[in-house]
Amino acid sequence: MAIIYEESGRVFTLQTSTSSYQMKAGEHDVLLHLYYGEKIEPYDMSYLIMRADRGFSGNLYEARKDRTFSLDYLPQEYSCFGNGDYRADCLRAVNADGSQCADLRYKGYKIYKGKYGLPGLPALHEGDGGWETLEIALEDSASGLEVTLYYGVLESLDVIARAARIVNHGQKPVRLERVLSFCLDMPDSSMDFMHFYGKHTMERMPERLPLHHGSQSVGSRRGTSSHHHNPFVILCRPEACEEQGECFGFSLLYSGSFTAAAEVDQIHQTRLVMGIGPDGFSWNLEPGEAFYTPEAALVRSGEGLSGLSLRLHDLYREYLIRGKYKTNYRPVLINNWEATYFDFTGEKLLDIAGEAARLGIEMLVLDDGWFGKRDTDSSGLGDWVVNEKKLGMSLKELADRVNGLGLKFGLWVEPEMISEDSDLYRAHPDWALRMPGRPGNIAREQFVLDFSREEVRSHIEAALCRILDGANIEYIKWDMNRSIANVYSAALPAERQGEVLHRYVLGLYEMLEHLTARYPDILFEGCSGGGGRFDAGMLYYTPQIWCSDNTDAIERLKIQYGTSFGSPVSAVGSHVSACPNHQTFRTTPFDTRATVAMAGSFGYELDVNRLEETEKEAVRAQVREYKEYYRLVHDGDYYRLTSPFGGSRTVAWEFVSKDRSEALVCGVVTALEANPSPIVVKLRGLDAGKKYAVNGTVYPGSALMAGGILLPVPQKEYWSYRYPVREVKEERDDV
Ligand code: GLA
Repeated sequence: MAIIYEESGRVFTLQTSTSSYQMKAGEHDVLLHLYYGEKIEPYDMSYLIMRADRGFSGNLYEARKDRTFSLDYLPQEYSCFGNGDYRADCLRAVNADGSQCADLRYKGYKIYKGKYGLPGLPALHEGDGGWETLEIALEDSASGLEVTLYYGVLESLDVIARAARIVNHGQKPVRLERVLSFCLDMPDSSMDFMHFYGKHTMERMPERLPLHHGSQSVGSRRGTSSHHHNPFVILCRPEACEEQGECFGFSLLYSGSFTAAAEVDQIHQTRLVMGIGPDGFSWNLEPGEAFYTPEAALVRSGEGLSGLSLRLHDLYREYLIRGKYKTNYRPVLINNWEATYFDFTGEKLLDIAGEAARLGIEMLVLDDGWFGKRDTDSSGLGDWVVNEKKLGMSLKELADRVNGLGLKFGLWVEPEMISEDSDLYRAHPDWALRMPGRPGNIAREQFVLDFSREEVRSHIEAALCRILDGANIEYIKWDMNRSIANVYSAALPAERQGEVLHRYVLGLYEMLEHLTARYPDILFEGCSGGGGRFDAGMLYYTPQIWCSDNTDAIERLKIQYGTSFGSPVSAVGSHVSACPNHQTFRTTPFDTRATVAMAGSFGYELDVNRLEETEKEAVRAQVREYKEYYRLVHDGDYYRLTSPFGGSRTVAWEFVSKDRSEALVCGVVTALEANPSPIVVKLRGLDAGKKYAVNGTVYPGSALMAGGILLPVPQKEYWSYRYPVREVKEERDDV
């Protein structure tokens, strides 16, 4: 039983393998949060709440004789604006009379086996089972607003999934101006706040700072989760490191604007809230209507940041990612973007495909420029009609001939966009998000299509289906190449304009749901100028995401390192590209580019015909090697061995099979040294009591982990290594 309800104290305890989470329907029917931490016996932890009459902390009216009962400091499960809790709120409701308040009191609960779902939104799914759900109903009697808090408990991975449903049971409409997914109150603030900031071509850079009084927050107002911040944050104890210490991870399954804020209050307690970005948001809830928040996954590890990542990787791989390619082998691809940009014909692509086939590559992906009038990035988006003149053949012929060479065929699309110079825009200028009377903000010479509108979505979906039905397409790269601005829908009344961005995200999810259901055999890869929408919401529809437009192996070390805290390696699209690198102009060894790209869903992004013979030979060997280690890389445990941000001269990582019989240690030496000092890499995740062979020598697992391996002296800038580690069974005389 992962969920335990103790009737007399009205205490709910959620138990996972190593954690407990507790709350209580306490005095005056206020739902108090009591505990989240290391696993305990289900004992009422409310004794830890120090009650005091705190100046300027008002009391509930019913509690007026008890001046210690104040929502201003008591720990809550779902905080509301306007009821005397002045800390970060989850819910800001504007009632029909203009009053801004919700005062939620406990009504009842439901416990059941299995996992709740959220209509129209991504949510962790049943996977191979093990979920239990608790629903707690709260209500505001004055307005008739009912809030159901969902708790999905996955014992094995120390996960608690949270979301909320708001239903208007009153007679009058209520406007929601802020409705977040969860609030978590912690009794102290001796924690660090870790988050992942970035920019286009440098996403998810980790930053870790001690909590301070007041609010510290990250978020996006761009309509997408963005390159600039990621909807995944960590709270960890100051002493927590990779190997040990308590860490809490919070991942929001949402791809639009978001907020993640930690606030330290007057008595040094911490509140973390996360959800849809409230700036510009509002939602009109008519009587009888319901609103669902996106889901957040809360994960706790007592075994440091590695423990946190291992749990999250398993969670995403088993309970988030869906469809055929959750488990099926994903082909090694070659993408023509950096090889040709917009300058290609069908024959040129076939030349690349032909050589790629000879080198063992398994799929050709045709990137931007195959449709409408699209020889530059300034026109054509929205016109999803094959440009047969440019290709010199139909898409079907191209796909068939690529297939004839032994390769699968994949295609790039950017369905959410409309170029000003497009037939679609000329026919439907009002389909672009744009404010009346203003020319609008344009980026890459394109506007954003109003995906909050059904007619817009069905037009685009039908056009995509025509393409997908017309040729043998086995992969789609779904791109999105600008931040959203001019948030205004021509189809919604003034009072509903605050709904547009969220309706846009719901529209996107709906289309992805339709397409992934209709084309279950297609592998979808997400993309937004690389990793501008690298979030758990998108991973529900697309099992992998192009991690960054930056293909420089050395900068990728940082990007992939940061990405690995929250997401599994299998989700990371990563390619070998040409040098000098197109983004940084750096030259790195061909083999090093492969070492880095193999820590992901692997492929190439260059013209294979321009490679030297030795490089071609290398491609053959790399593809063979990647296939050999595919299961280890995609399904194994991933460890960050050293950080690209620390003083180490090598950035190293390791994949370990679940049964610990096999591992692969990889890394790049990023600094050369005269009269060199030793570079030692300590392995992790092996069985200390077993023996393993590395580079022809047999070592005890304990030696490899406590002592490490000694790297040879690097003879070349950015030299890299990939060392297989294999268990050696003891020789037995009796067999
Ligand atoms: C984005 C993607 C690139 C490429 C271009 C095409 O920037 O991230 O990989 O597909 O669009 O325009």
